[in-house]
Amino acid sequence: MYFSDDMISEIVEKNDIVDVLSQYVNLKKSGSNYMCLCPFHSEKSPSFSVSPSKQIFNCFGCGVGGNVITFVQKIERLTFIETLKLLAEKAGIDVRDTRDEKELERLNLKNKLFKINLETARFFYRTLHNNRRPMEYLQRRGLSDEIIKTFGLGFSMDSWNSLYKYLLTKGFTIDDVYKAGLVLPKKQGDGYYDRFRNRVMFPIIDLKGSIIGFGGRVMDDSKPKYLNSPDTLVFNKGYNMYGLNQVKKISDLENIIICEGYMDVIALHQYGINNAVASLGTAFTEQQAKLLKRFSNEIIISYDSDTAGQSATMRGLSVLEKEGFTVKVLNVPTGKDPDEYIRKNGVETFRELLKNSMPLMEYKIESAKNGLNINNFQDRITFLKKLALILNDMESEVEVDAYIKKYSKLMQLGEESIYSELNRLKGRNKFGNNKHNIVNNKKSYKKPKKGEILAEIYLLNICIVDSNKAKNIFKLVKTHDFIVELHKEIAEFIVLSLENGKLLTAGEIINYYDDEEKKAEISEIFSIELPQAEVEDIIKSCVDIIKKSNTNNKIQELTKRMNELFQQNEIEKANAIYNEIKNLQKTIK
Ligand code: CTP
Ligand code: MN
Repeated sequence: MYFSDDMISEIVEKNDIVDVLSQYVNLKKSGSNYMCLCPFHSEKSPSFSVSPSKQIFNCFGCGVGGNVITFVQKIERLTFIETLKLLAEKAGIDVRDTRDEKELERLNLKNKLFKINLETARFFYRTLHNNRRPMEYLQRRGLSDEIIKTFGLGFSMDSWNSLYKYLLTKGFTIDDVYKAGLVLPKKQGDGYYDRFRNRVMFPIIDLKGSIIGFGGRVMDDSKPKYLNSPDTLVFNKGYNMYGLNQVKKISDLENIIICEGYMDVIALHQYGINNAVASLGTAFTEQQAKLLKRFSNEIIISYDSDTAGQSATMRGLSVLEKEGFTVKVLNVPTGKDPDEYIRKNGVETFRELLKNSMPLMEYKIESAKNGLNINNFQDRITFLKKLALILNDMESEVEVDAYIKKYSKLMQLGEESIYSELNRLKGRNKFGNNKHNIVNNKKSYKKPKKGEILAEIYLLNICIVDSNKAKNIFKLVKTHDFIVELHKEIAEFIVLSLENGKLLTAGEIINYYDDEEKKAEISEIFSIELPQAEVEDIIKSCVDIIKKSNTNNKIQELTKRMNELFQQNEIEKANAIYNEIKNLQKTIK
């Protein structure tokens, strides 16, 4: 559909802003303008103003503003084109391109299918109210009359053709009823039969309020538990979300909860949590993500806690991440879906879960940690590798740092060993999606000098044979002081094993590496001869060399930072850093 500038002007002209907005808000005259409570944020006194002369609106509270198109687009959550269509229709402007006969035919058929679906939903609704068994089923599952009404639930009779016959009396053709997905051709002989029989029915409604399809649930354990409309001209599962039409009504929407099922959405809604939607039993699609993006930037995933639910969570997550959502994961305790949980434990407990929903990254890390024993050295190494893989995908360096801090404490891993593993991955991904580069930012030290390299190698050699000396050494230098990446990793392994009470041998350390070259390098490190001197003296001078080199690196970093600050005219901050540099220089003189 294409709208020319002229057409858009005509649409704005013929839709007076005061007329249109009056259908959504309670406008009160105030001078030459109108005022009301802003529909886009919650407030107690009106700061939303509409100017009939300028044909614009503006909220002094939250800053929204625009013309009649902006308003309708925002409040109806439509795309620009959809808004134009709606307003054109309102004003009786014919925007259909009559040259396109095919398109017109499609439009007609679409409208017919909507009508059939609406008539069907009404039929199911009445049938529900005339039958005790489905009504009792819903009541047993805790649904109130009110929520049944809100979601327009219904019932399809235990009959082969009651719906089909009914729709024909309403003047629809069997061909159209078939295209609506409500009947199936008989397997033998001619004719059709009702697709939905003896099921509780859930109408699926799009953002414009049209019924686009149905889901139906059996009332016992027979299979399939749920049956859904097939994709039709008006129903495309991957493009819709169950319950979004309800979410649309919320004016101060903070985030959206995605659950798995119809019943979850309805239960949450019944308990006043009305920002829940469900993904219609399919894998979460990019189109669904884009649809949600119109409403909110934050998604809380609340899938079943069974394993299928968990892996579905994982799959949906990448789609959401790609669309740039802030994603959190709500973990419903064992064996429950949100419906069961909220009915059993009440809304306050569920709200508590909501509040505690985990940022996506943390969820991934926690999943990686599952089943690993922090007291087991091997498990900790496994975790370290998994953690690095997860962090490797992370955009924000600040976040990476924060997670490394948190999990190094929690899993008793040295921060530096996680950085090393991460750096190793980054190196390996050199030609892959190396989004941010910790290697460069964090450790862009100058090539270490020969003396420094040797000092580190001597220390490692002393450590590896004497745990008391090792303990002393790591009181004097921290593993992150080691300049050569590989030395740092080895130092980490040694520290970890010290904590574990059993010093690793060089051979054991080599085992942690797959890379032949690395293995060779490590064995070279541990083949070196120590100088002829008191071990304590060697330690002292090696530690000095390493410390000095670190201080120099620190000074370099600070100098760079100072210069940047100067350029940004942050003189005070730059001066503070200058003093810091001075002090550092004193310590190595
Ligand atoms: N689903 C489906 N077809 C099935 C099973 C499930 O389309 N045969 C979809 C439905 O949308 C359903 C969702 O997947 O709501 C989640 O399925 P499930 O967890 O099995 O059902 P619940 O939503 O928990 O339904 P109930 O509580 O009624 O058992
Ligand atoms: Mn359930």
